[in-house]
This record gives sequence, structure tokens and C-alpha cells, in this order.
Amino acid sequence: MASGKKKVSVIGAGNVGATVAFHVAQQGYADVVVLDLPDDLTLERPRKTGSMAQGKALDLNQVSPIVGYDGRVTGTSDYAHTANSDVVVITSGRPRTPGMSREDLLAVNADIVESVAKQAAAHSPEAVYIVVSNPLDAMCHVALKATGLPSARVIGQAGVLDSTRYRNYIAAAVGVSVEDVQAYVLGGHGDQMVPVRSLTTVGGIPVQKWVELGKLTGEQLQKIEDDTRQGGGILTGLIGTSAWYAPGVATAEMVEAVLLDRKRILACTVLLDGQYGVNGLYFGVPTLLGAGGAEAVYDLMKLAPLTEAELAGIKESALKVQGTVDSLKALGKL
Ligand code: LAC
Repeated sequence: MASGKKKVSVIGAGNVGATVAFHVAQQGYADVVVLDLPDDLTLERPRKTGSMAQGKALDLNQVSPIVGYDGRVTGTSDYAHTANSDVVVITSGRPRTPGMSREDLLAVNADIVESVAKQAAAHSPEAVYIVVSNPLDAMCHVALKATGLPSARVIGQAGVLDSTRYRNYIAAAVGVSVEDVQAYVLGGHGDQMVPVRSLTTVGGIPVQKWVELGKLTGEQLQKIEDDTRQGGGILTGLIGTSAWYAPGVATAEMVEAVLLDRKRILACTVLLDGQYGVNGLYFGVPTLLGAGGAEAVYDLMKLAPLTEAELAGIKESALKVQGTVDSLKALGKL
């Protein structure tokens, strides 16, 4: 029977894709399609009975009676099954291995993201696209070009993840609930990302005041910011591949904001048009996220008293993203 639920397609049934699918399905407001290649030819023992996407979808359906959700999960290799999605999440591409930067994945993932974005857009031209593949900012450019959609509907996930990492470190250091730490990490999704200390609050009190109160030291806060910037690399070093729980759930939070038209203000990677002194570049900034995708962008350079160090950090991060996009152009991929 056809479902009246919203539809979310997740391209890429790896760890991140499956985590997005699980968290979206658990909310019960959407059916989820998980798509991946029919088989992974690099496997020592290729599957004979179906695909990984089918297997993960079956697993996700089998957990639903315990967790209590009705949304159906479909695993497939056929883009026709993704047709008329409300949101499409692109997680396809190679993950990092230890010692690899996100930029090392540039050429190989550009080809993959171009191909999947094109095929998905042919079936879901009205959807909002959320890109997760790395190097994230550059892959947003690839997806924008491949889909041919308005930039408000092609958005990247990075800032929600980077901000949750920052919030978690601060909450642990101060000894308070993670729920009471508010923070934004802006800029490109690379080691030059900018944790915005001047806007970070713990219980509404600026984090700098907690340093003055002796609840955490300036050195601790500096290390937290360094660890946030290195966030993905630290995880890759420990796990041996990219992280998936926080990246997946961060993406699901964005999916929900769009599906339910929640008008969340989240750090999203969006195409800037002069804001932050950045033109024509995908960059992580506070964004109003609703059914239309990126419905507004807030320029903290104008709206908040950012520090000189933060302003310099934003400039440096933008230069880094520009460099990656230029490399993509030099490779003939943009
Ligand atoms: C990370 C990957 C998803 O930061 O970029 O963990």
C-alpha cells in the first residue's frame, strides 16, 4: 500500500548512510530509501543474494517493532525507487583512512558525487539535497552543478557535526549537561574550521566567563578548539575510518528541520553570495533551515561582535576552501 509519509532517500549505505537512515526512520515521519551499488566488487566474497543496501534496510526494518517505528526502509540499487523524495542525503564516496585529509579524497569522490547527484536529481527534482561526502565544501559545488538545482536546495552537513563535537568537549570540561552548551563552528569542514568562542555560552553565560570563574582553564579551552578542528582526523585515527554516529545523527537533525519545516538555525554549508566577504563559495554559516532548504543565511560579521582572531580564522578557512575548489576546477571536475 502506498504510504502517505514523507520520503527521504539516503545515497550510500555505508556507516554514515545507515546511521542517517536509522535516525530518520526512528522518528516515524518518513519512509526511507537506502541506495547503494548492487555489489561491492572489492569484497573478498561478493554477496550472492542481494546488496548491502538491501541487507541494511532489512536490518533496520527488523529493529522497528522493538524501537516502535512504522516508517519503512527500502534498500535498493535502482534510482527509480528514490523518485519524488522530499529530501535526498548524499553520503557516497570513499571515507578517510588514518593519515588522510578530507582533501585527499577530492578527485575520486568528485566523480562519485557527480554521478549519484545527477541520477538522484533526475528522479527527485523537487527535493532538498544534503551533502555529507568529503571533502564536504567541494562536494557541495559538485552536487550543485550535477543537480542543476537552486543553491538553496543543495546544502552541506558539517557545522552541526563540528558544533556538537565542540559542545560535547566543553560540557565535559565544565561538568554540565551537553544540552546547556550552545556553540557554532563555522567555515569550511577542514582543519581551518572556526569554533566561534565569542558566541559560545554555557547556561547562557559566555564560555570565557567560565574560564574567569576557574571552571575550565584557557589552555583547556584552546585544546578543545584544536581537538574540534581536528575532530574527524582524531576519530579516523582511532577507528581506522571516518566516524559515523555523530555525522549520521547530525545529518538526521538537518533532515528533520527540512521535512518538518522547523525553521531551525543550524550551521550549514551553503553557497555564499557576498556574506562573510565570501562570494560563490560553499561555506559553513548559521542558516535558517526549513522546507525550502536554506531559507536565510545570517552574516555574523555584521550581526555579532566577532573577535579579530575569529575574523582572521574565517578568512583563512575561506581561502582553504577556495583552494580545494580551485583544485577541483584544475582537475576539470567543476
Ligand atoms: C568527520 C567526517 C564525517 O568529520 O568528515 O567525521
